[in-house]
Amino acid sequence: TCFNLRRSGVFPMTKEGIVEIRALDAPIGAEVKGLDLREALEPETRDRILKAWYDRQVLVFRDQVLEPEDQVAFTKQLGDTGMPRLPSQAVREILPELPPEVMIVSNVRVDGKPLGLPHDGEMWFHSDMCYAEVPHTATLLYAVDLPSKGGDTLFADMYAAHERLRPELRMKLKESLALQVHDYKRTDRPARDLDQSKIGNYAHPVFITHPETGRKALYVNRLMTARIEGFDEMVSDQILDELFNVSEDPSIIYAHCWCPGDLVMWDNRCVNHARTDYPAEERRLLRRTTIVGKEAPKA
Ligand code: OGA
Ligand code: MN
Repeated sequence: TCFNLRRSGVFPMTKEGIVEIRALDAPIGAEVKGLDLREALEPETRDRILKAWYDRQVLVFRDQVLEPEDQVAFTKQLGDTGMPRLPSQAVREILPELPPEVMIVSNVRVDGKPLGLPHDGEMWFHSDMCYAEVPHTATLLYAVDLPSKGGDTLFADMYAAHERLRPELRMKLKESLALQVHDYKRTDRPARDLDQSKIGNYAHPVFITHPETGRKALYVNRLMTARIEGFDEMVSDQILDELFNVSEDPSIIYAHCWCPGDLVMWDNRCVNHARTDYPAEERRLLRRTTIVGKEAPKA
């Protein structure tokens, strides 16, 4: 549900010199207030941001006025920036000034061409780049154009999902790997007859340990997890069904209703995210940067 009023336009931050971080009234997420992200972070502020991010998994910064370069510079202060996995030639032709680190997440077409992979309508829960050996740890999304309704981003707490599994199921999958794939879908399960040589894919532990918090998280999702290795297809499907249902329970989800100027940063190691549907005839455009991981997720 969307309870914050949509504001038209962006109100620049006044510099108060006081950074306030407060938990959102939701299972996960915190809002960071009092920062203009165009300015360099004090080391102490950077530490507080990272600590809050590890605690709350999703951070929201509102009313930011960011050019693509500003978003890259902010991201760089928190880690090594990732490159979009598919740098689209079409985007570079239409937006030659766009820094290479920035990916456009949008349904907009220019002369019939999408600005990268088209991001139309609904998208099921997933974790960014889980199909890579070393996924990107953080994703930062900045809202530029938004539809009048829908297009919310949902964030699900995968620590809580792990805790809530039936203990027998947790035992059974303790050592298991799940095959993660990227077959370019938005609202469908991965194809059964995947040609693995043609698409990104990697088998990661079903439960991963977050390297900073030491907490265990469930690391499967409806959009990109094809199967659990070592089980028959039917059994794997049954298990996955149960895992998906636990991991998508509304009681472990924060729904972000976007305003222009919001920057949201989430942790792909302990959060799955999804997008709700929105009117196809309205524009939605966000800019995405990421932080690269240092190693493959470990059990
Ligand atoms: C993404 C993504 C969700 C959204 O950029 O990785 O999943 O709400 N975006 O657009
Ligand atoms: Mn995503």
